[in-house]
Amino acid sequence: MGEITELAYAKLNISLDVLSKLPDGYHEMCMVMQSVSLCDTLRVSLRTDGAVRITTDLCYLPCDERNIAARAARSFFSATGISAGCDIDIKKKIPVCAGMGGGSSDGAAVLRALNTLTGGTLNQAALEGIGSSLGSDIPFCVAGGTVLAEGKGERLTGLQRLPDCHIVICKPRFSVSTPELFSKIDSRAIKYRPDTAGILRCLQSNDLSGICQRMYNVFEDVLPSKPNDISLIKRALLDCGALGAVMTGTGSAVFGIFPDEDSAACARCLLSGKYEEVFLAHPQPKIII
Ligand code: C5P
Repeated sequence: MGEITELAYAKLNISLDVLSKLPDGYHEMCMVMQSVSLCDTLRVSLRTDGAVRITTDLCYLPCDERNIAARAARSFFSATGISAGCDIDIKKKIPVCAGMGGGSSDGAAVLRALNTLTGGTLNQAALEGIGSSLGSDIPFCVAGGTVLAEGKGERLTGLQRLPDCHIVICKPRFSVSTPELFSKIDSRAIKYRPDTAGILRCLQSNDLSGICQRMYNVFEDVLPSKPNDISLIKRALLDCGALGAVMTGTGSAVFGIFPDEDSAACARCLLSGKYEEVFLAHPQPKIII
């Protein structure tokens, strides 16, 4: 096999809750995660000289070991004992620093691609294990779908798929620092939390509006006070007919879930007049490995 093309899907947090701070400084999480059709495209091929070379269409993305795709390739080769390198070309569509797991999804796509190129000896759990040492969202991104993620994000339980819907995603110009938001959150002082148990029940009964009414992200309460774009975007999405709207991950992207295509298209059109990064997407099913 010469070269393979792998799609790296964005993730959204239907819910995000922080339960406690762990002794190592990380946090215990409880999140309902969803992959969506918005994706980066990676072309991956093996090299015999052991080098890992990255090219990308986004000029400011690092192409050395700071890029998680490069670290994922190195980890794959060291975990499997395969002495090879690879070329990775990344076409970015997922906004960066958006809370949409773009880098993590690229890393996970590299793991899947290298596994296929070297004969597919590793199963999903083994790939997730390699991913967990690279970043908290990578285990989810290995197979994606609709998943309950607990622990630091590595304890995954597959869920009933999100009912069919149309999703509008809008990333305002500013970005939020993930470590900074984590350092601001005090899990004992959180006033509002998502109704995760209710979301799980609504997923089982295919109740899209029930899910949307219960979505919440506890990081919305500790955002720096300056950027009120988050609440403006949420308001605009709801005014256009979204069943619910919420920030994803540590932001700054916000998404709204719509039952019909027309109102989603209207929301996209309206937000595109003010924001550069606005996307229409739909839920993406789990990847079979
Ligand atoms: O694991 P990852 O590199 O994606 O995490 C980025 C940062 O997010 C960490 O340095 C940490 O500050 C924070 N984090 C956390 N608890 C988690 C996941 C991430 O505190 N469960």
